[in-house]
Amino acid sequence: MRLLLIAGGYGTVARQYIDSMTEVINDTELTLEEAVRYIADTAPEPDSIVITDEALSLHPDRDRRNLEALLNSPSAPQKVPVILITTDSWKSKEWESVSSRHPRFEMMFSEYIRVTPELFVQSISRARAAPGLHTQKSTRAADGGPQAERDKGSRRDIEPARKSFLDRFRPKPKERTEAEPTDALTRELERISRGISRVVAVTGHRGSGVTSTAVNLASEAGRRGLSALIVDLDIDYRSTNMYFGGFHERTKRDEEINASLIRTLARPQDYAATAYPIRDNVWLTGLGYDFDDPRLIGQFVTEARLTGLLSLLRNRFNLIVLDLPLDLLREYQEIMIHIDSFGLCVPNDLYSVLSTLRNVENSLPKEQAVYLNAKSKLVVTKYNDRSRFQGENFTPEAVSRVLTSGLMEGFTYEMKVAGHVPYSSDFDSQIESDVPLVHSSTHYERAYGNILLRLLEGTG
Ligand SMILES: Nc1ncnc2c1ncn2[C@@H]1O[C@H](COP(=O)(O)OP(=O)(O)OP(=O)(O)O)[C@@H](O)[C@H]1O
Ligand SMILES: [Mg+2]
Repeated sequence: MRLLLIAGGYGTVARQYIDSMTEVINDTELTLEEAVRYIADTAPEPDSIVITDEALSLHPDRDRRNLEALLNSPSAPQKVPVILITTDSWKSKEWESVSSRHPRFEMMFSEYIRVTPELFVQSISRARAAPGLHTQKSTRAADGGPQAERDKGSRRDIEPARKSFLDRFRPKPKERTEAEPTDALTRELERISRGISRVVAVTGHRGSGVTSTAVNLASEAGRRGLSALIVDLDIDYRSTNMYFGGFHERTKRDEEINASLIRTLARPQDYAATAYPIRDNVWLTGLGYDFDDPRLIGQFVTEARLTGLLSLLRNRFNLIVLDLPLDLLREYQEIMIHIDSFGLCVPNDLYSVLSTLRNVENSLPKEQAVYLNAKSKLVVTKYNDRSRFQGENFTPEAVSRVLTSGLMEGFTYEMKVAGHVPYSSDFDSQIESDVPLVHSSTHYERAYGNILLRLLEGTG
């Protein structure tokens, strides 16, 4: 069998798993984009085409266009099977329309962080069985064996349209509004975001801007092509309901989404059914205002469950954002080590600086406070450029200096400033309109974009 292998950097590894009955016709490793050109230039006449994640770009739109071009190419024989092996279960939705129009295009999903050699080998045998692809599909159930068992989830995805009522929670595939890498910020974000997986907790004293920051950071990540999950751990306020009216409405009609956080903690691997898709690749899990079962909360919103959720889902999302106000940190001390960085929200006034420290002191023992200090970057919220302290402008850097000036023992490490969110009397328009500010204001988009970048940059 003559195989065209479109596997980007994975190609050299993948070649080791190819048996002697298969000849890879391309000598060089190809991305999907390069493959389209390669086919047009060399008319290679393969018997099958296998694509892996590594051949894809960060831009699903562009990838889809390239895939369509490949499938429609007169130089790629029409009957040749084209198989994508991916770890991204979103692709089944994103490329649904492509697979419905091109029956020879199939997706195989890996349940693991990476495509396993077994799955790759399986894709080759599947390609070889073509054109009996469909026969193969129906006989697979009898395959048995551990891989077949592991692959059950994939099979579900591959089989066409088995409708579930949960489908209505999934967003329709839509054209994404991707940011073209024109500005330095975009390029920098792209550079560091490839393959990134980070857990960021947004924290701060009550009313300091925690929820709006969490929501906008996750939305900005989504806008920039990263997948993000917001976990609203603020069981007392549940304010994500305010920022996402769609979620709130759904919680009123649907007990399961009303209990989303409980269900996601119970089975994180099923997040696609238990979390709420907000837009593009941004998901939310939290509780509806009506959810009132302290027993279930006590049973599931625990450090152990949260640790489980973070360990499992950090491989599925580029970014997990926790809405975790300071006063709740006491209950979640054990998950602190699973958090890569904290965005500590502090408005630039003395009251807020002191309240922040009081909160830290009340919530955490000293060694945990030191840890929080070291892992935090400062997000100066409700930033008022006329605010002054000791006769000087109360700049973000000054807030950082005062905060760590020894007013509290154990909070004396220099804290980097992630950025600031300007105060605006229109700030609540995002609640009224249900659209996070990063989608409606370039000013705020830039502010949150910079903060996101600094928080993703690592723990400094
Ligand atoms: N940059 C800003 N400009 C103007 N108002 C702001 C700004 N940031 C936050 N606010 C105001 O502060 C309120 C609280 O913000 P937010 O819900 O983000 O904070 P929080 O810390 O999560 O609060 P809570 O403790 O109630 O959960 C918002 O309703 C908004 O009015
Ligand atoms: Mg809040």
